[in-house]
Amino acid sequence: MRDINKDTITQAVLERHQDTANERLKTIFDGLVTHLHDFAREVELTEDEWNHAIEFLTEVGQTCSKNRQEFILLSDVLGLSMLLVAQNQAKPESCTEATVFGPFHVEDPPAYELGDDVSNGLEGPPWFIHGHIVDNNGEPVPNAEIEVWQADERGYYDVQMGSNPEMAGRGVLHADDQGHYHFQSVVPACYPIPDDGPIGRMLEALGRHPWRPAHLHFMITADGCEQLVTHVFRKDGNYLDSDAVFGVRPSLIADWLEHEAGSTTPEGQTFDEPFYTLKFDFVLNRKS
Ligand code: BEZ
Ligand code: FE
Repeated sequence: MRDINKDTITQAVLERHQDTANERLKTIFDGLVTHLHDFAREVELTEDEWNHAIEFLTEVGQTCSKNRQEFILLSDVLGLSMLLVAQNQAKPESCTEATVFGPFHVEDPPAYELGDDVSNGLEGPPWFIHGHIVDNNGEPVPNAEIEVWQADERGYYDVQMGSNPEMAGRGVLHADDQGHYHFQSVVPACYPIPDDGPIGRMLEALGRHPWRPAHLHFMITADGCEQLVTHVFRKDGNYLDSDAVFGVRPSLIADWLEHEAGSTTPEGQTFDEPFYTLKFDFVLNRKS
């Protein structure tokens, strides 16, 4: 085709894809080109605007490092990460819902025993977390691997602070043979997603704030069940209705209860300073 104009160019590109051996790749690229061209025509995109976007995307790439993934942030604030979670991790209604993974997960966190304190130097009010892991038939899930990660009382993850020890507020432990789990940590605060780079500028230009409501990340893996990646949010916290990355699900909001000094912890010990507790039961989707 030689007679290319703003309307015929879409078909011309699609015809070039006809010999694509990988069917799925062809479906994805055909859809991408069709929607991208429709978008450019619909908003009457100018060359200056597209050059500006290319500069922005270049800076997003240049901002990535070992400890920072600006492209994940872009996907998160555009709502694409949560759309893909909702589309690909839909579960029966009785199951605990999944939410965004986020950029602060770290491979090979320290291993802990039930009852241990995973804060490892992270600062904040003491917090006791416990619950039960069952499947959607109501059967206890024994020995599930539970990985947790979280920010501190100021809203910073260990990887943002270059903390010492390096891995703080994250760890992996196992539920007991009846599916019960319990561990100690510190209460995390709400926090802004990293906003000192191109994504922060983008949010500001769009009149959006960068804040996420306070939460604790969980990744639960057990034989015979689908892996669950989720958070538990603080019920009385801020930003539940305006999470910068659209990760809140009503079923993931729980009471983080405050207790006076001298109260008894879920493990039955008297604790001589004020502390918080969270009880959260998880329902995993049994693989058919
Ligand atoms: C997080 O919860 O760790 C997170 C998720 C998306 C973007 C930034 C942080
Ligand atoms: Fe987080």
